[in-house]
Amino acid sequence: MQKLRIEGGRRLAGRIPISGAKNAALPALAATLLTEEPVRLERIPGVVDIRTMIRLLEALGASIEESNGVKTIDARALGEPVAPYEVVKTMRASSLALGPLAARCGRARVSLPGGCAIGARPINLHLAGLEVLGARIEQEAGYVEAIAPSGGLRGAHYVFPRITVTGTEDLMMAATLARGVTVLDNAAREPEVVDLAELLTKMGARIQGAGSSRIEIEGVDRLHGAEHRIIPDRIEAGTYLAAGALVGDGLEIDGLEPSHLGAVLEKLEQADVKLERTGPTTLRVSSNGRLRPVDVTTEEFPGFPTDMQAQWMALMAFADGVSHLVETIFENRFMHVAELRRMGVEIELSGNRATIRGGRKVGGAAVMASDLRASACLVVAGLAAEGATTIDRVYHLDRGYESLEAKLTAVGASVERVR
Ligand code: EPZ
Repeated sequence: MQKLRIEGGRRLAGRIPISGAKNAALPALAATLLTEEPVRLERIPGVVDIRTMIRLLEALGASIEESNGVKTIDARALGEPVAPYEVVKTMRASSLALGPLAARCGRARVSLPGGCAIGARPINLHLAGLEVLGARIEQEAGYVEAIAPSGGLRGAHYVFPRITVTGTEDLMMAATLARGVTVLDNAAREPEVVDLAELLTKMGARIQGAGSSRIEIEGVDRLHGAEHRIIPDRIEAGTYLAAGALVGDGLEIDGLEPSHLGAVLEKLEQADVKLERTGPTTLRVSSNGRLRPVDVTTEEFPGFPTDMQAQWMALMAFADGVSHLVETIFENRFMHVAELRRMGVEIELSGNRATIRGGRKVGGAAVMASDLRASACLVVAGLAAEGATTIDRVYHLDRGYESLEAKLTAVGASVERVR
């Protein structure tokens, strides 16, 4: 099993380019199932989850071509609308195929996603929404099947009992081909939802209100091909900003979208991190030797993102004092705590609240990644810790960070992959 070895304490200077957002690229790839015409997508990140989604599209009958960074997906000739267990078990975002397949083929059969390290993460709200759009939902042998009525899905009004990002995306895609108007209330407002709506609109969908909690979709008979450039990855950018806050020396994070990072930038500034905007999509970050402890509660966008919670905890391990982190989105997203404790960080847990006593020596250690963002947290801590840190099960990191070692080595970090 591969490990990442990091020699802590190196100052980082230079430029880190931000890749396309994994969590925008995944629904965009699923959206290509909605049309018989080719869709060209730019800035798709080269990460494992994307390769898994492409495998899923190919299993469904789509063909994918790539030339100089642009992927062209042609889903003209779809086969059986079945997302097999072998694919879904490795990536729960396969549930994003449900809505498009039910809308395009009248039927979708997707293996129920198994458990996940950070929580149960059911897809019951995706299914409840599809039922409201007229689909019959059946479940057997670990698969869930959504069967549209003979005339196709019907527009309807659905109020999400709780905000779900991929639930919003799944139903927005299904509604584009439903007969009539669909209203989604209490919808997710994430930038990735807005980016998907922009792609769908380019494909001929009629969508109003993406980015607000009420999205209206007027169904159309068919969608056509389009070209689209995926937004930059705000969580990748936030991760490198956290690293720069600890060991940056004029580190430039380039190609990000500041408006997607409002809550994170606000908290970094409260922590006294030196941030300068050196271009419309470039932030320059430096550590100034001291870091104020700042409390964070994770919330849906535009609040502080849960996907930055672990990285923030790593940052607060080096702050001068006590800070509190409350995780409100997932029920088990503190697996990185045990690993940070191995590095000497003093953390108390009480339910969904972590108390971090920063300011003590953080030493490199052998640690283990448990999920994607927990592994990012350990990278951030390892870059600033005294001595060497080895992170085991680094395949978690490869799911969502493109060329992480190359990007960090290029700005002076000592990061290498070892057996
Ligand atoms: C998306 O996951 C992201 N993944 C996650 O990023 C992110 O952490 C999450 O949104 C929250 O922002 C992708 O976009 C591919 P949710 P998603 O549905 O859509 C509960 C990463 O690190 N829920 O918004 O699966 C759920 O259990 C990943 O890149 C239901 O109960 O998250 C959770 O507690 C991790 N029933 C809460 O809602 C449902 O049907 C929010 O989940 C759906 C969700």
